[in-house]
Amino acid sequence: MLVDGRAAAFSFHDRLPAAGSFLEDVIAGLSQPRKALPPKYFYDERGSRLFEAICELPEYYLTRVETALMQEKAGEMARRLGPGCAVVEYGCGSGRKTRVLLEALRPVAYVPIDIAREQLRSMAAEFASDFPGLPVVAFCADYSRPLALPEIDRFEARRRIVYFPGSTIGNLTPDEAVAFLGNARDLVGPGGAMLIGVDLKKDAARLNAAYNDRQGVTAEFNLNLLARINRELGADFDLGAFRHQAFYNEPLGRIEMHLLSLKEQRVTIGGRVIRFRAGETIHTENSCKYSVAEFQALAAGAGFEPVECWTDAKLRFGVHYLVLPQ
Ligand code: AVJ
Repeated sequence: MLVDGRAAAFSFHDRLPAAGSFLEDVIAGLSQPRKALPPKYFYDERGSRLFEAICELPEYYLTRVETALMQEKAGEMARRLGPGCAVVEYGCGSGRKTRVLLEALRPVAYVPIDIAREQLRSMAAEFASDFPGLPVVAFCADYSRPLALPEIDRFEARRRIVYFPGSTIGNLTPDEAVAFLGNARDLVGPGGAMLIGVDLKKDAARLNAAYNDRQGVTAEFNLNLLARINRELGADFDLGAFRHQAFYNEPLGRIEMHLLSLKEQRVTIGGRVIRFRAGETIHTENSCKYSVAEFQALAAGAGFEPVECWTDAKLRFGVHYLVLPQ
């Protein structure tokens, strides 16, 4: 590809485990006494499109507030991070927040990692052509597992930064989040850092509204998980017999999303029969919320030093800067 007469520097590395783990994960999740499915499977092509639509909803303040925060504070963030960074991004969304960061920071390389192969490919190509001279090294991989990236050593970055926006860390329980930050710590190494977006604790009404939008887009997003299992694994879920459920679990500080079985029913998946009682749920997602101090304590437990947290004036969302000592 030529951009202004120059080749756009863009490479793509496939590190996804062989197919088969989707079926295994679904069967394992639905065979437990309390049924659950991993939220990473929301993001097939339709799910990714529905999530983009969620980000535009009036009730879903997270994306808007975080984007505005990046626009306002990117200069300060760039001064903190300093020159010569390699930016590794966990997940690649529509990339608006990332663009703001890259423009302010001017890193030596941009390294997006995502399991959604085609979305990643097109985003990476777009970034490579929009940021001429910036090497874009994309990895199709599961960033929730330990990952080594020897391919980026050649950029001789002064330090590695993991950028993890969107409060996606909220999908993990606090214990899981500590283990996850431990993997990120190994990836960035001594002197490295993280810039991580985290939704703040706030009143339950505002949180509940964000996950129960009036247009029903979040319900469609949740139910698409069953539609995807039907499409890709040949299952026979009756989508009309399940209902979207989302509520703030105050003691645990998290939104929980479930799919509620409206009747007693059986579903066949890969030759296995799964039974549902009326009123039983599949737990499809946690979205944990943290005060600034809570998240800083969690990060410290994983060996990071919490240096700064930028928040909006209404204290809805925080972007934390965490460093790993030399
Ligand atoms: C992408 C995980 C941050 O938890 O708010 C949005 C996903 N689920 N609406 C979130 C989601 C329902 C979102 N994260």
